[in-house]
Amino acid sequence: MESYKIGILKGDGIGPEIVDEGIKVIQKIAALNAFKVDFIDEKIGGDAIDAYGVPITDETLKVLSTCEAILMGSVGDPKYDHIAPELRPEKALLKMRKTLGLFANIRPARLYEALKEHSPLKSSILSDGLDICVVRELNGGIYFGEQVESADGQSASDLMAYSAPEVKRIAKIAFEMAMTRDKKVTSVDKANVLASSRLWRKTVIEVSKDFPEVTLEHLYVDNAAMQLIINPMQFDVILTSNLFGDILSDEMSVLTGSIGLLPSASINESKLGLYEPIHGSAPSIAGQNIANPIATILSVAMMFRYSLGRHDCADQIENAVLKVLNNGHRTIDLAGKDQKSLSTSEIGDLIAEAL
Ligand code: NAD
Ligand code: IPM
Ligand code: MN
Repeated sequence: MESYKIGILKGDGIGPEIVDEGIKVIQKIAALNAFKVDFIDEKIGGDAIDAYGVPITDETLKVLSTCEAILMGSVGDPKYDHIAPELRPEKALLKMRKTLGLFANIRPARLYEALKEHSPLKSSILSDGLDICVVRELNGGIYFGEQVESADGQSASDLMAYSAPEVKRIAKIAFEMAMTRDKKVTSVDKANVLASSRLWRKTVIEVSKDFPEVTLEHLYVDNAAMQLIINPMQFDVILTSNLFGDILSDEMSVLTGSIGLLPSASINESKLGLYEPIHGSAPSIAGQNIANPIATILSVAMMFRYSLGRHDCADQIENAVLKVLNNGHRTIDLAGKDQKSLSTSEIGDLIAEAL
């Protein structure tokens, strides 16, 4: 019997609740398709700080590197806001992305017909559904540049740096992605001000020469933030740097109804991938069984598609999510004022049943 080894990182806040629903879906799909899954539970974020004093251990990173894919919930809690920067829960995520070489962060956003009224945008702007894929660089830029905090606490700096090879490899992923979609890449930068963005733009133009069928456009990030609201239908693939991609993907999630819906894949040069919702640990709703598990469940679908090569299982999961949404089932983030909302685990049960 075929078997997959999947690392599980529940993390903090709503992490354990939403990952449990992801596991539920994996177990059901494994039973339906007659394969076996070995779950390797590891700790990350505040959960690891409480157990080991560090947000991720080297041993955990070693174990994860032997898995075929990793499913993560979320990290972070206000309780760790005042500890040393190197020990913050978020640092674990950055360290894992870097150590495992997960340089390509793929964040698709689709507005489902059933959720059209949940988008803050008018239907005249959303002519026929919204389908955008952000390809965010994840191993470089300002997240990994030199960081300095002066001893007197009066100055601090973060360096935003990119090299041409770093830009090249992420641009290639975006163009390849566009070839499977509507063949358009919008590269988002701040080349009117930043040197790293001028290198970014020049390098993206170079890479585009290998993809003559793909239309390439450039937008400054401030304008891109506006264009996402006034004319989101112009976008197919958005290619951008680490920080800009982080910000634009949260903005994009709102257009599709809720941040609780959007999945992500972070992949490296081989097939190892980290799969996680784009949202965080949502501390204010943690432990109440009310968070939306769909972003995590759709991340599981991406895991089957990108790391495990099981497009059949990915399709099955995405169809089950669609069915549950089409039947009007909603968690609290999507329930209207007069609509009954379901719990995290009830939505997970319905999706597992719909498989
Ligand atoms: P957040 O994404 O956790 O929450 C933003 C808002 O969205 C909140 O109102 C929250 O209740 C809501 N929300 C998020 N996920 C939801 C879900 N599944 N269902 C329903 N509502 C949901 O962002 P934040 O409040 O800025 O950050 C909280 C913590 O999470 C911080 O410590 C931050 O560093 C961390 N964080 C972690 C990740 C990650 O693990 N990948 C991502 C973003 C933020
Ligand atoms: C995300 C998060 C992370 C990021 C944080 C928690 C480090 O916001 O995955 O979007 O900024 O990349
Ligand atoms: Mn983010």
